[in-house]
Amino acid sequence: MSQPTIESILQEKRIFPPSSDFSRTAHIKSLEDYQKLYDQAQANPEAFWAELAEKELHWFQKWDTVFDWSNPPFGKWFINGKINISYNCLDRHLTTPRKNKAAIIWEGEPGDSRTLTYAQLHREVCQFANVLKSLGVKKGDRVGIYMPMIPEAAVAMLACARIGAPHSVVFGGFSAEALRDRLIDAQAKLVITADGGWRKDAIVPLKPQVDKALADNACPSVENVLVVQRTQQEISMQTGRDHWWHELQKTASPNCPAEAMDSEDMLFILYTSGSTGKPKGVVHTTGGYNLYTHITTKWIFDLQETDVYWCTADVGWITGHSYIVYGPLSNGATTVMYEGAPRASNPGCFWDVIEKYGVNIFYTAPTAIRAFIKMGDQHPKARDLSSLRLLGTVGEPINPEAWMWYHEVIGGGKCPIVDTWWQTETGGIMITPLPGAIPTKPGSATRPFPGILADIVDLEGNPVADNEGGYLVIKYPWPSMMRTVYGDENRFRRTYWEHIPPKDGKYLYFAGDGARRDEDGYFWVMGRVDDVLNVSGHRLGTMEVESALVSHPAVAEAAVVGKPDEIKGEEVVAFVTLEGTHQPSEELANALKQHVVQEIGAIARPGEIKFTDALPKTRSGKIMRRLLRNLAAGQEVSGDTSTLEDRSVLDKLREGN
Ligand code: PRX
Repeated sequence: MSQPTIESILQEKRIFPPSSDFSRTAHIKSLEDYQKLYDQAQANPEAFWAELAEKELHWFQKWDTVFDWSNPPFGKWFINGKINISYNCLDRHLTTPRKNKAAIIWEGEPGDSRTLTYAQLHREVCQFANVLKSLGVKKGDRVGIYMPMIPEAAVAMLACARIGAPHSVVFGGFSAEALRDRLIDAQAKLVITADGGWRKDAIVPLKPQVDKALADNACPSVENVLVVQRTQQEISMQTGRDHWWHELQKTASPNCPAEAMDSEDMLFILYTSGSTGKPKGVVHTTGGYNLYTHITTKWIFDLQETDVYWCTADVGWITGHSYIVYGPLSNGATTVMYEGAPRASNPGCFWDVIEKYGVNIFYTAPTAIRAFIKMGDQHPKARDLSSLRLLGTVGEPINPEAWMWYHEVIGGGKCPIVDTWWQTETGGIMITPLPGAIPTKPGSATRPFPGILADIVDLEGNPVADNEGGYLVIKYPWPSMMRTVYGDENRFRRTYWEHIPPKDGKYLYFAGDGARRDEDGYFWVMGRVDDVLNVSGHRLGTMEVESALVSHPAVAEAAVVGKPDEIKGEEVVAFVTLEGTHQPSEELANALKQHVVQEIGAIARPGEIKFTDALPKTRSGKIMRRLLRNLAAGQEVSGDTSTLEDRSVLDKLREGN
């Protein structure tokens, strides 16, 4: 099985309309309803968003102006509105029958489980918010969160939001070095972690990584570390700096009113990879993000009051932020959190969770689907999956074969599939079917969400014809758009708004993806057009991996490319030239792979290291990655090679292949 190619998806003609049973009870019931909303939003976006903001959220104080674009590309939404997302996710449900409804159902790894009702979650969050305050965390202070998939991760996020301290969650699979860089950039005042977490049948240490990140006063802004006891292994606690979560939580008051935040106050920073430099801190603010994640969760996942909803992402990624924590809880839904991951030793793990809790809505990544296909149909078939009524995918293009398997084997042919295209930067889902309204085509994310003006353009910003490939752009701002790169406004402007220059004074948001639109107006996203890789749905910058490699004493130069992979979508392949007398060997290749894990984390481990005497470069010294991509994939080198400085480099690389 492979990633979709232009040829394969051009031939994809199957269409799956929603069943009338599904549409009848859906929030958005027909294509006409969708079109009406879409047209309304396009005609008057401010009125569209204002009406929803008023209807769907609680505001302590209403805004004066819906949208300010006087200083593009720095947009502001719901100006002077006062709101708190933790209030919208918790307090407002307590005066309704949702008070004792399950908010979070947690399935932990070696058979642990826990359910928190809205009332219980509210209490935990208030207590923990008071713990943060007692350690001196104030509105505006950044808090690092480096945790496993346990309910305390959501409690920590909501507690930060409650007191107005922006969180910066760092995926628990990142290394101490990667954590340190992010804590330094965010100037975090406090870090919340756990002794360890479970990852694929093993305990991964977390607190020791925090210790390493903070060693030698590398992050002077960090004053305190809070530690959840999860796995009980021996860890060291530094007196004065480190505190046990459960000890402080025990005595903390459960009264903590939610701070009235300005709509544009920062809610969180989340680091993501780009094509240049270090990961950038994507900044999201409060009101617009709350609204957009709320309404997309409601309409795209068609949330109904009794649904059990499960998104398998990790809270360390944007999907976890928007569609495990904030979107579902703002809607008063029951959201499942799972500490495990697909693995050969437990090939039925996802299906067990669905059966155990009667999951109705299931949202996962194509890479997981492909891994399960490989493990065999017998595993899902041995479980009762009849509770499912809607399926979703996110993170990378889904190949039509995987889509069909998901539809038939998991969805029993009856569940609509929402293939949702979006990014850390967009905050919420941008292009997606609305499941009761939009017929789906395997491999297409279909149509933009109401209020989202997506287009495919060339590098000058001119729209391209149907079925012609181009760059995916968004032509009008939306409430949950990222506000800036933390501490680097120029990078924000350059990366997203100037790559394709403003057209007739209008700014186009450049997503970094290539796509085409077909004759029905359906979008087919092909993948990144920049030097960003997508490995198992995780975003990785080639530059990041290259910097990690060249920080090893044996490496002179490194060039990293993606190679198509059956399960992961892409795999990291590194071409490396060596310093001085170092000689290529398998041991050195393994040492370099380990070095990348050490510097970034296991998700960046190269699948292959190819030693070479020289890298193919242009006369101006630019590495020709295109050629390396061809070589890594075992393809003939295609396209123009006339700019190569030294053709013999290419010949040698071919021979070595
Ligand atoms: O290339 C696109 C791909 O994932 C990128 C965004 O990565 P990240 O910020 O980590 O967020 C992932 C989860 C939202 C995009 O630029 N991508 C995401 N969803 C899809 C996708 N590509 C194709 N189809 C999708 N449904």
